[in-house]
Amino acid sequence: AKITFITRENETIVCEGEAGSVMELAVQNGVQGIDGDCGGVCSCATCHVHVDPTSLERVGEAGEIEKDMLELDDAANERSRLCCQIDISDQLDGIVLHVAHE
Ligand code: FES
Repeated sequence: AKITFITRENETIVCEGEAGSVMELAVQNGVQGIDGDCGGVCSCATCHVHVDPTSLERVGEAGEIEKDMLELDDAANERSRLCCQIDISDQLDGIVLHVAHE
């Protein structure tokens, strides 16, 4: 799937991935602002993204544990996801994610 990241500096980075999490894809491609400090176990929120309105349906909602983590984050809104909790699949082809502010 082709996944587009927009960084805090408004840089557009298009990545292509087949498997694994969206966080891993972002780290592999050096997307600034996605650090994945906890290794993808939903406990650091350094993989916080805002899902573009055009992509919300395809990405889907945050899970319960993820929502609890996001509640602690001041930058969170209703389009927030922790992208280590998003598994790459064909369904995600063409989505756009904005790196959240710290
Ligand atoms: Fe830590 Fe996603 S990488 S919460």
